[in-house]
Amino acid sequence: MTEPTTSHPKRVVILISGGGSNLQAIIDQQQNGQLPIEICAVISNKDDVYGLERAQEHKIPTIVLDHKQFNSREDYDQRLMQIVDSQQPDILVLAGFMRILTPEFTQHYEGRMLNIHPSLLPKYRGLHTHRRALEAKDSKHGVTVHFVTSELDGGPAIIQASVPISQYDTEQSLATKVLAQEHKIYPLAIKWLAENRLHMENGQSLLDGQALLSCGYQFQDTEH
Ligand code: GAR
Repeated sequence: MTEPTTSHPKRVVILISGGGSNLQAIIDQQQNGQLPIEICAVISNKDDVYGLERAQEHKIPTIVLDHKQFNSREDYDQRLMQIVDSQQPDILVLAGFMRILTPEFTQHYEGRMLNIHPSLLPKYRGLHTHRRALEAKDSKHGVTVHFVTSELDGGPAIIQASVPISQYDTEQSLATKVLAQEHKIYPLAIKWLAENRLHMENGQSLLDGQALLSCGYQFQDTEH
C-alpha cells in the first residue's frame, strides 16, 4: 500500500559540478508547486560553476567543497558526508556531480540518493556517453535516473527516456536532445521519492509497491 504523503516537504540536498540545468529544472518544479520538497543546500566540488549562481538567484544556500584540497577520495567523501548530514536531508540528489563516490558514502545514503546519467543504462556507464552512442551507430539514446549504489552508474533504474538518433546528430545536438528529457524525468523521480511512492528494496526499484522494469519506467514524451 502507498504510504500517505507527509504534510511537511522533504528536505533535499543537491550536489553539482557544472552548469546546473537539471538543478534549474528541479528548482522550477518546486517553485511551481509541483514538487513537495525544500532544497536545503546546493553543494559543488567546483567554485566557478554556473549551477552555484542558479542556486544563489533563488536564495538557496550554496557550499563549495573543493576536492583538490583533500589528499584522498576517502577524506573528501567523509567531509562531504558531514556537511550533507548537517543539513539533515531526506533525499540526496546528484545533478551532474562528476565524482566517483566511495562505498562508505553510497552505503550511508542508500535508498535516498538519486543520480541522473545520460545514457540508456545499462549501456554506456561512465563518461562520453553521447559520443559512444554515435560511434556505435545506435538508433536511439537517452537518459536514466537511478538509485545510487556502490556500483558506478549501476544502481536500480527508476525512469528512462529515449530520444531517436538521426544521421545529422552530433555529440552536441544529442546532448541537447537528451538534456531536454533529463529536465522532465528527474523532477518526476524526485517527486515520487518525496511522496513516498518510490522505494529501493532488495536491489530493485518499487513504485507504488510494484517492481519497476530493470531499465526503469519508460517515460513517453508527449511533446515528441
Ligand atoms: C547531465 O547531462 C547529467 O546527466 C550528466 O551531467 C550533465 C549535467 O548537466 N551527469 C553525468 O554524466 C553523471 N555521470 P547540468 O549541470 O546542466 O545539470
